[in-house]
Amino acid sequence: MENKIQELNDKIAQAKLGGGLKRIQKQHEKKRLSARERVEYLMDEGSFEEIGMLVTHRTTDFGMDKEIYYGDGVITGYGTINGRLVYIFAQDFTVFGGSLSETHAEKICKVMDMAVKMGAPMIGLNDSGGARIQEGVRSLGGYADIFYRNVQASGVIPQISAIMGPCAGGAVYSPAMTDFTMMVEGSSYMFVTGPNVVKAVTNETVTSEELGGAIAHSTKSGVAHITSGNDQECLDDLKKLLSYLPQSNKETPEKLPYELGDEIRMKLATVIPDSTHKPYDMHEVISGIIDEDSFYEIHKNYAENIIVGFARLAGRSVGVIANQPLFLAGVLGVKSSKKAARFTRFCDCFNIPLLVLVDVPGFLPGTDQEWEGIIIHGAKLLYALSEATVPRVTVITRKAYGGAYDVMNSKHIGADMNFAWPTAEIAVMGAKGASEIIFKKEISDAEDHEAKLVEKEKEYADLFANPYIAAQRGFIDEVILPQDTRRKLIKAFSMLENKVSVTPNRKHGNIPL
Ligand code: COA
Repeated sequence: MENKIQELNDKIAQAKLGGGLKRIQKQHEKKRLSARERVEYLMDEGSFEEIGMLVTHRTTDFGMDKEIYYGDGVITGYGTINGRLVYIFAQDFTVFGGSLSETHAEKICKVMDMAVKMGAPMIGLNDSGGARIQEGVRSLGGYADIFYRNVQASGVIPQISAIMGPCAGGAVYSPAMTDFTMMVEGSSYMFVTGPNVVKAVTNETVTSEELGGAIAHSTKSGVAHITSGNDQECLDDLKKLLSYLPQSNKETPEKLPYELGDEIRMKLATVIPDSTHKPYDMHEVISGIIDEDSFYEIHKNYAENIIVGFARLAGRSVGVIANQPLFLAGVLGVKSSKKAARFTRFCDCFNIPLLVLVDVPGFLPGTDQEWEGIIIHGAKLLYALSEATVPRVTVITRKAYGGAYDVMNSKHIGADMNFAWPTAEIAVMGAKGASEIIFKKEISDAEDHEAKLVEKEKEYADLFANPYIAAQRGFIDEVILPQDTRRKLIKAFSMLENKVSVTPNRKHGNIPL
């Protein structure tokens, strides 16, 4: 018996070493934790249970039968984070560079299947040189098995990917199909083809970091939703993100205890500048409304003309979408529309109510935008919001012009409660632009064009630059004082808690992709 126990202990010790101490040391030299250290750091202490620790690859080509490592380059299992069940895989770069073999993929698929069955989030910590080159198509098949499961699990359980090292070639498509992709700054990169192939095909010279590092993907491509300074920060961020989410589409996010008190927030009364042309930071409005320090921003440095993120309102998790007048006056463009549409769909999948804060002068004009398809991309946001059945509440703080008024969670597309501040201007366009068009002749006939324009602009603004015509029609449910917004929203979301929506019977809609 003792021999048998010794045999098991030896195997476990060997498995825990992955590709060996030397390679673990190399990982540390690159300021990266080992896969096992990452799992231990992320999970509640002592909660992680490993599945498939003794799995090995089945390849015999290229002398691979002589190079066997227990676990085959990926640690899989389950545990808890803040007491909640999660499933996880963590690729181990010390074993064949974390590359994906047939068995490595089987291990990942096994925990993905369990996560769906049990209705718990799936977390992937990616650190891999891609397909196991020695295995050829068997490895590619393994990827596709994972991709297929990503799609089946989409909208059923939250799926989060943290990229903590290389992630290249086909490997990128699993994170891309999960709900959130996080990246570690300076030590992770993602690309479909690396710098060498880029050089050969397009003759561009670019580094891995420039091409697919955390900065590139969080500012230019939008592939990364969240970036963090190092491995530990990334795992802390992951825990925080998870705290706003439910276990699955069958549940609602945990509601933290909250006792209602004085919910008036006077600081909101002074956020909007006197001039409608002056920008202000919509973050001030968000922080004035939500529970203190509860905002967790997603896509912070990407398409900054719109803000999206999670927050809590009287302990309840909400998704916030807000135009940001500080960037491009808060217009809707290709990137900002896609960003907000994707966020809307995530929240709708997982029963997270939506709060939409509006200060939008319209869509971004220009050939760039038109030729990139702003029509289709703007339609994504319109479609996503129209289709969302979670409680949806809107507050118009200032401008709500043109088609963008309709898109930004208007009453007409199914919002449940629509509020406006007295500073709201709900109109087809700004007073100046409108006057230049409809009073063109009067202005050009006038002796003093400028004075006439100012006069007409005032006339138009007096009539339309307010929330009252919309309120008369019932398009706005209530015009509220800014300082009362938090109180009104707490009551509105509480009232909407048991909302039931009947949707048309169809296979699925056809969102303009
Ligand atoms: N298949 C099998 N083994 C792989 C591998 C892969 N795809 N990628 C890396 N490895 C192995 C290396 O042979 C090396 O093994 P060793 O520890 O026994 O020496 C180990 O993983 C570490 O790789 P190394 O190249 O030394 O690490 P690095 O940090 O310098 O570079 C990469 C990392 C990912 C840039 C580099 O390994 C690479 O380009 N890999 C191939 C990527 C690829 O083309 N994948 C297939 C297409 S998806």
